Amino acid sequence: MLNIALPKGRLGEKVYTMFENAGYDCPSIKETNRKLIFENEKKEIRFFWVKPSDVSIYVERGAADIGVAGKDILLENKPNIYELLDLNIGRCRMCVAAKKDFRDEYIKVLKVATKFTNITADYYSKLGRDIDIIKLNGSIELAPILGLSDVIVDIVETGSTLKENDLEVKTTILPISARLIANKAAFKFKSDEIEKIIRAMKVQVENID
Ligand code: PRP
Repeated sequence: MLNIALPKGRLGEKVYTMFENAGYDCPSIKETNRKLIFENEKKEIRFFWVKPSDVSIYVERGAADIGVAGKDILLENKPNIYELLDLNIGRCRMCVAAKKDFRDEYIKVLKVATKFTNITADYYSKLGRDIDIIKLNGSIELAPILGLSDVIVDIVETGSTLKENDLEVKTTILPISARLIANKAAFKFKSDEIEKIIRAMKVQVENID
């Protein structure tokens, strides 16, 4: 049995469809209930829904053999896993954003609100810029509006959250997309099954326009 951790939510549904089209279907997953684990005994696979930011924890510790996590989570948490394939979905970018009239004049410590404290610290340390990180857990866009921070480091997908709150992107730090990841021991001991999935998923990635 191969255990697969899927990120709960819209991205996870897209990911499941890729698995389904790749031949790893598990019809019971489409039943609307609160179940978290779904098995296809014949195909020897078991899917489970995990909070997106927890997928890499399940995979790193071997509770899941493989899973799908955003590159943002991988860069932020630096789990000890193998990154197997860029699935080219869940595409967005990590950005510095601020109020339209904000200019960093490098006079004082920059106050940065974010969920991604490690990515933020790495980015500004490379620039040699002193910052004060304010860790938030959501609605990051509020911080510069209310004067809690000068800028934010956050994910921008369509850009509409920034736009509707009169903020704008100042710098793009990195592009983000969903990655297929594997537990290191599972990759060794279940290599045939995992290699087969990588090949099948690669075909799906090529079919994404
Ligand atoms: C994410 C991110 C932005 C928004 C960007 O928030 O933190 O707020 O999506 O998307 P957009 O560019 O398409 O508007 P999420 O919905 O995960 O909620 P959060 O506020 O709890 O972080």
